[in-house]
Amino acid sequence: EPIADSAKVISRMVDLVMIRTFEQTKIDAFAENSRVPVINGLTNEFHPCQILADIFTFIEHRGSIAGKTVAWVGDGNNMANTWLQASEILGFKVHVSTPRGYEIDQSVAGIRSSSSYQVFKDPMQACAKADLVTTDVWTSMGFEAENEERRKAFANWRVNDAMMQVAQPDALFMHCLPAHRGEEVDADVIDGPQSVVWDEAENRMHVQKALMEYLLLGKQA
Ligand code: NVA
Repeated sequence: EPIADSAKVISRMVDLVMIRTFEQTKIDAFAENSRVPVINGLTNEFHPCQILADIFTFIEHRGSIAGKTVAWVGDGNNMANTWLQASEILGFKVHVSTPRGYEIDQSVAGIRSSSSYQVFKDPMQACAKADLVTTDVWTSMGFEAENEERRKAFANWRVNDAMMQVAQPDALFMHCLPAHRGEEVDADVIDGPQSVVWDEAENRMHVQKALMEYLLLGKQA
């Protein structure tokens, strides 16, 4: 059935729709034909619900994220794109370090300018003085066929203690999970004192509830 037709039918029966899929174009097509709000639950290009949780977690621990620096180490993927979008809205900087061939594409990320982010070849430099160091799996859902190739390309993009040492002394570590210790992050970082990954995971639920309330009821005092 065409996505447009499914959207017309489903959206007559529910108050909200959340879709986790691959191509962003599928969600866009659904949303264009939906009578109710459509939440992006993850696409190849974006992961806004996770970034809401991450920013909420940062705020809980450190206060406003405006003016802060987030280091993104790893794949120029859906998470990275959405960090850049958020940085434009909320006024923080993103230091991005990806292996060659896995860079962020600004046009895919859908951001207006490159002023809120800076690209570093060396992940250590990206982490220097960062307030938050964050990473993600080397192989996202849907890209499993590239797994072996990616393991080689990403070998130097494992977040380790040396990267945390050059970040701010009170820097936080986040990971949207599931994590692979010994691949994108060392165990002593994700299980160490600067890691807030369990708060981050719990906050997926709280911000999801807040988003649903906002979409159903509007802004509450
Ligand atoms: N970039 C990852 C995020 C998983 C929550 C993926 O798309 O698989």
